[in-house]
Amino acid sequence: MSRKATLFIPRVAVIGLGLIGCSWVKGLRVRGCVGQVAGFDRNLDSMQQALDVGLIDEFSSDITEVVRAADLVIISVPILAVRQVLQDIAAAIGDATVLTDVGSVKGSVAGDVEAVFGADFGRFVLGHPIAGSERSGVSAADENLYVRHKVIITPQPHTDQAALRLVRAAWQAVGADVEDMAVSHHDEVLAATSHLPHLLAYSLVDTLANSHENKEIFNYAAGGFRDFTRIAASSPVMWRDIFSANKEQILKTLDLFQHDLNFLRSAIEQEDTTTVMGVLTRAKVARDHFSKILARRAYVEPMKTASVTYIASPAGSLSGSFRVPGDKSISHRSIMLGSLAEGTTEVSGFLEGEDSLATLQAFRDMGVVIEGPHRGRVTIHGVGLHGLQPPPNALYLGNSGTSMRLLAGLMAGQNFDVEMSGDESLSKRPMGRVADPLKLMGAVVETAEAGRPPIKVHGAGKLKGIHYDLPMASAQVKSCVLLAGLYAEGETSVTEPAPTRDHTERMLKGFGYDVKVDGSTVTLQSGGKLTATSIDVPADISSAAFFMVAASIAEGSDITLEHVGINPTRIGVINILRAMGGNIEVLNEREVGGEPVADIRIRSAQLKGIHIPEDQVPLAIDEFPALFIAAACAEGETVLTGAEELRVKESDRIQAMVDGLITLGVDAKGTEDGAVIQGMGATGRFGGGEIVTHHDHRIAMSFAIASLRAAEPIIVLDCANVATSFPDFVGLANNAGLQLDMISKPAAE
Ligand code: S3P
Repeated sequence: MSRKATLFIPRVAVIGLGLIGCSWVKGLRVRGCVGQVAGFDRNLDSMQQALDVGLIDEFSSDITEVVRAADLVIISVPILAVRQVLQDIAAAIGDATVLTDVGSVKGSVAGDVEAVFGADFGRFVLGHPIAGSERSGVSAADENLYVRHKVIITPQPHTDQAALRLVRAAWQAVGADVEDMAVSHHDEVLAATSHLPHLLAYSLVDTLANSHENKEIFNYAAGGFRDFTRIAASSPVMWRDIFSANKEQILKTLDLFQHDLNFLRSAIEQEDTTTVMGVLTRAKVARDHFSKILARRAYVEPMKTASVTYIASPAGSLSGSFRVPGDKSISHRSIMLGSLAEGTTEVSGFLEGEDSLATLQAFRDMGVVIEGPHRGRVTIHGVGLHGLQPPPNALYLGNSGTSMRLLAGLMAGQNFDVEMSGDESLSKRPMGRVADPLKLMGAVVETAEAGRPPIKVHGAGKLKGIHYDLPMASAQVKSCVLLAGLYAEGETSVTEPAPTRDHTERMLKGFGYDVKVDGSTVTLQSGGKLTATSIDVPADISSAAFFMVAASIAEGSDITLEHVGINPTRIGVINILRAMGGNIEVLNEREVGGEPVADIRIRSAQLKGIHIPEDQVPLAIDEFPALFIAAACAEGETVLTGAEELRVKESDRIQAMVDGLITLGVDAKGTEDGAVIQGMGATGRFGGGEIVTHHDHRIAMSFAIASLRAAEPIIVLDCANVATSFPDFVGLANNAGLQLDMISKPAAE
């Protein structure tokens, strides 16, 4: 640790020579932040030992001597001993002396300070380091105990600012991450995260130890018992004091817990396996999520996702037969409709990508019991159209525009309020396009500035059916209005300016809901119900598209993509590649659960530039990043028009692709609603370079496949979001013949 000392406290007094106080003092000492340290402990041996190891410079059995000249007094004694210490030192402390403590209950210490020094005393700064060790005492003192650990400081309105700065600096100097919290909030949080678990552990061991079979139990104590009760081995005196000092908050959490425990008990008694499963699956997800947070949080790494870079080296041809992950659009909808259906819906082929998992979590947050996903299988215990419960917090939808826009429609029909937020990219995307029609239906919807997320949908309003002429070809807006229509009085209909994906309409029918499609208009009535069904999610043609382009541009390639969804509203990529001269065969056409699927064989071909027909644009809307790569490898010019929607996807995809192509030496330019790309022709090769993806999954995958026709490696930056739609893209791509290296690092601080 080569931290330069910026803090210097001439005289420190430490009262109580336990691990917590000693580690702090040692940390300050080795970093050159303190001058003279005086120590006090009721135990003479501890004081002598601290002196011997050089932790303190002096001690005295008279506590007033120890604090008399101190600039900072650190009180590190059991929580119920604090008041006595304060009374003992009150007369001896100087006018400028700052005091602080390390206790794990703050309300009781605040009360002690007030009782001894008066309500206005501002030089006592209440603190609580969230760190510890199984070991204790002077000999266990560790100068790095607090490095990147949290320390909570609970300033009060009358706390002196200079005192606060000193204590904060003294914690930061030993590497801690200091956070402020209100006293009562601290005690409430700690009651739940630390005090209650200790109480339960002690109580369970006591119960079992007193039972008849105690010997048996301890002899055969398995991992569960050991894990659950490990903390019951800590100091009873300390915990007795904490339980008493934080009595109110602990009782409050205990009551809540007892209530929930009784609920689980009666579910088990009544063999209500769905409810039991609900508790277990929700808890598991929360715990997994928590472990992830904890993994970073224990060392307070900033909460940014790891950065992932692909190094895509020039490679040869692709071969093999494989299945890409499940369709994202259908996966989202399977969770939504399955949750609102009556009965249990079984889904297979579900996309375990972050976007569809965001939808899944949102419905769990609204009380739906969902098992899995496990290898693409999900079991949804539907609650019916009116069975959702208010979520405890805002729904966080990550990168997923589909989740937010479709949910906006569904939420408008509920009788509770919901707020929805997302990551940086989603927070920039337009939501006015869904808010506008919902408002026409009578919903109360608020967005942030310029119609961006977060979006708040207020429930309880009565919706009325409308006819809506979509101002843009968007399946998300169409679906949003139709889903709101399930709850709106009378009839709801939508007319689209061009065909867009119709998975919502198809799946509603699959769940037994009456939906009429007449040309470009879709109509439904409220008052129906959804009946649970099974859904086999085909492989996502949008993910398959990367391999269609890859095999087309890499000479000598021959691959087959299995079980790909070929819904007519999604096959623009096949039509466009064929028009460019692509060699694509659609084999074994069949239908699964209302969606057409096929195996698709692609062999390399010399592509030629075309003007992409505008009617194909909505049918290939997500595939343009990959198609830009195809165009760059073609002979001649490719012109795209009528695709302004690409500018409001996960990134401005026109700009991102054109910039990337230019980096690799291609002559490309963006236009307002598309691009013009000069193909490199049969012998052309991309140069190497570094690609800025703007954290957009499809930009990342497109430039990864460009390496098949590159002369030098392509470095693709910020690829973590590939996990939103295509988990294990790298594994699958490398098996097929690409040469991708993935470098993951924790995000830079
Ligand atoms: C989607 C519709 C499309 C598409 C998106 C998924 C859907 O968006 O780009 O990735 O599942 O409905 P728009 O409908 O906004 O064009």
